[in-house]
Amino acid sequence: MNTPDLKEARRRTNNKVSIKENEYKVTDKQRKIGLNKKYYIKTYGCQMNEHDSENISAILNDMNFTKTESLEDADLIILNTCAIRENAHNKVFGLLGRIKHLRQTKNIMVGFGGCMAQEEVIVEEITNKYKWIDFVFGTHNIVNLPNVIEKAYDNKKQEVEVFSCEGDVIENIPVKRDSKYKAWVNIMYGCDKFCTYCIVPYTRGKQRSRLPEYIINEVKDLIKDGYQEVTLLGQNVNAYGKDLGINYTMANLLEDVAKTGINRIRFVTSHPWDFNDDMIDIISKYDNIMPYIHLPIQSGSSKILKLMGRRYTKEEYLNLFKKLKEKIPNVSITTDIIVGFPGETEEDFQDTLDVVDACKYDSAFTFIFSPRVGTPASKMEDNVSLEEKESRLQRLNQLINKYSKENNDKYLNKVVPVLLEDYSSKKKDCLKGYTDTMKLVNVKADDIYLGKIVNVKITSVKTWSMDGEIVK
Ligand code: SAH
Ligand code: SF4
Ligand code: F3S
Repeated sequence: MNTPDLKEARRRTNNKVSIKENEYKVTDKQRKIGLNKKYYIKTYGCQMNEHDSENISAILNDMNFTKTESLEDADLIILNTCAIRENAHNKVFGLLGRIKHLRQTKNIMVGFGGCMAQEEVIVEEITNKYKWIDFVFGTHNIVNLPNVIEKAYDNKKQEVEVFSCEGDVIENIPVKRDSKYKAWVNIMYGCDKFCTYCIVPYTRGKQRSRLPEYIINEVKDLIKDGYQEVTLLGQNVNAYGKDLGINYTMANLLEDVAKTGINRIRFVTSHPWDFNDDMIDIISKYDNIMPYIHLPIQSGSSKILKLMGRRYTKEEYLNLFKKLKEKIPNVSITTDIIVGFPGETEEDFQDTLDVVDACKYDSAFTFIFSPRVGTPASKMEDNVSLEEKESRLQRLNQLINKYSKENNDKYLNKVVPVLLEDYSSKKKDCLKGYTDTMKLVNVKADDIYLGKIVNVKITSVKTWSMDGEIVK
């Protein structure tokens, strides 16, 4: 069985990308499979996976399955998995224990998809040790789910469809969106950056951008359907268009999406390496491009950044950060940080704390390095103990939380725009939503305000959220 191979994977960047518009088909027979059956879907991982689950749901709808929120109630259980860190794996294998019991006691089907299904070691484990799982499908195979599910029901043996048609951009897969007000819009798939710790370039394949006209048309359709906000999705959105060869960049795309007039535009994730001045100018020029940027740094030590293959230094990152703060009024910036990368000394870790002190991030996702099979970093010598890594994570989180609270405190008594998107899960008689700068706010409001962007006065502030009331 092969493990991810950097050399081999790098070769792919020359393969030609083809756009496929007519791949998705459901036969009359397949439409009957889901009649009187319910599906349950569990999604792990990033926004990309959440959006894939919206596609999977729409396909199951076309096959006449209906959705249930209860695992016990389901005739079909789908796991859309993530491979980014070991604990993502562990969560999935934990749930599989519960599902196995259900599978043994009643007549249900179980499907295993997502990024773990793109890892050969995992597929090997499933075919050997989890023979009761009915079908396995990769991130590139979602479009073919009707056939995979049909075969699994007919043949009663494990179906595995995990091939890497990673040179394709597949258009016209149906989507059943979780929200009526904000939508994910893929602008590119895959990643060619090959940061040395990361599994994504192997599980998601080579970078391929969607053509601008498809993206713009999707946004225009969303406006017609009443959507207020779109988030443009990619592992590396700033590199958008580089693979198209039509001289059209992320800055061009942002401007064209802004011109559609949609109320709110967001984008994730921005790799600092490709963040150019044109992009910054466009973000500051258009009011409907939100002043919020997720700008992962990963480490503050230039030595570790080099080992990670991030291709910027601490100083280059800080310059970019400063420029963003200067040129985009009121911008909020968040980040991702890994501690305990192989070879990270206390001094390197101090560099990371220095950067956090300099940037005073609005918030951050922080992780302990997790070796992924086959990636270059998993073969590097790692002499930092787990205790030390945990202590670094804790110290880092304390600092991050301090700045989150300080940043939020500045909002007290201010009036800010909030898109009210759902009922608050925390507070009674409240709706929740996000500010333009991506702060979570619980707002005392009637549900006639759902789906509206309203002005909210912030009345109290915590580290992770705020409370407020509508000002008329
Ligand atoms: N494309 C995005 C990151 C996607 S993965 C970017 O380049 O910024 C989300 C985050 O998971 C990463 O930013 C990184 O901080 C973390 N991550 C990825 N691989 C990891 C690993 N092997 N161990 C620990 N954290 C990891
Ligand atoms: Fe992973 Fe992001 Fe690096 Fe791509 S740019 S390899 S997704 S961390
Ligand atoms: Fe996880 Fe795959 Fe996203 S590995 S973070 S679900 S791209």
